[in-house]
Amino acid sequence: MLPPRLGGVSDQPLVLGIETSCDETGIGVVRGTDLLADAVASSVDEHARFGGVVPEVASRAHLEAMVPTVHRALETAGVRLSDLDAIAVTAGPGLAGALLVGVAAAKAYSLALGVPLYGVNHLAAHVAVDVLEHGPLPEPAIAMLVSGGHSSLLLVEDVTATMTPLGATVDDAAGEAFDKVARLLGLGFPGGPVVDRLAREGDPAAISFPRSMLREQSYDVSFSGLKTAVARWVEAQQGSGQGPVPVADVCASFQEAVVDVLTAKAVRACRDHGVGHLLIGGGVAANSRLRALAQERCDAAGIVLRVPRPGLCTDNGAMVAALGSRLVAAGVAPSPLDLPADSAMDVREVVCA
Ligand code: KG4
Ligand code: ZN
Repeated sequence: MLPPRLGGVSDQPLVLGIETSCDETGIGVVRGTDLLADAVASSVDEHARFGGVVPEVASRAHLEAMVPTVHRALETAGVRLSDLDAIAVTAGPGLAGALLVGVAAAKAYSLALGVPLYGVNHLAAHVAVDVLEHGPLPEPAIAMLVSGGHSSLLLVEDVTATMTPLGATVDDAAGEAFDKVARLLGLGFPGGPVVDRLAREGDPAAISFPRSMLREQSYDVSFSGLKTAVARWVEAQQGSGQGPVPVADVCASFQEAVVDVLTAKAVRACRDHGVGHLLIGGGVAANSRLRALAQERCDAAGIVLRVPRPGLCTDNGAMVAALGSRLVAAGVAPSPLDLPADSAMDVREVVCA
């Protein structure tokens, strides 16, 4: 494999990042740690009537969006394809068919341009993106990644090499719980943003929903029981003849239960590992109450909290480019051109060897 060519106006490598693990076709352009472009084409509207992402619909949408989104990103960045020094792509975990589109495109660009290819782990990319906004992340750090597809607590020793999983959801992902609760309240998809908004008008202490696994020593979380508790409560309210369901109170109380457990476990992981930095990423990191409670609890525990801006928390190509750039800088060997799309890629594997 060719070594990175360091061309263009700076000696920092220019990296294109491709993300297609779920329903966002994300294309990012990063030079060193500078974000030059972050183009996203989302198929979320096409999934809304199904109440969740339909893999086949997502794959087709990626196929249609890929080339136009790459061109849009390059135009925004003011660079040409021939200026690129490396291509990075999400190799997993994610939806198999969706990942395949990104991986195939990345291989084609890498081969055509004669630049190295890095097949990277989506979760590591969620961690690496923060460098674009807040500078180098002190390592080790604890990362909590919460989205529609994943809920993981990780010890990040070195994002280019080693991430140790501490805990994960045993059933629904945090974002999935938001989406399911929104659905049962008839609030549409995706549910997180609307629950977040309605919760601001509700009382988080109105209903006492369960905090599953909060007192357990493990760092795992569970949201399936909470979702069922909300469904039962709403059913009972509807059957009681006591007027309409207080949607804002349900949203606020449900949201409080989710963020209480997440922030408690994340802060405990920092304490237990003697780590002073907590990073939160993934779509649910856009949640205003999660941000506020995490900040409160980190302040109390003397932990520095880092949360990228919402556009960098949801799936995007900039995060993949940011990780690719770190890998180039660290001298990590590129991936082979026959790298697979690995829907169940292990979090301990940062880059496909
Ligand atoms: O990271 P992301 O864009 O895609 C993956 O699922 O990988 O995350 C989307 C998830 C959805 O479940 C959505 O409901 C949730 O993030 N989400 C939120 C908020 N914004 C997005 N959940 C809670 N509060 C929000 N403000
Ligand atoms: Zn994600």
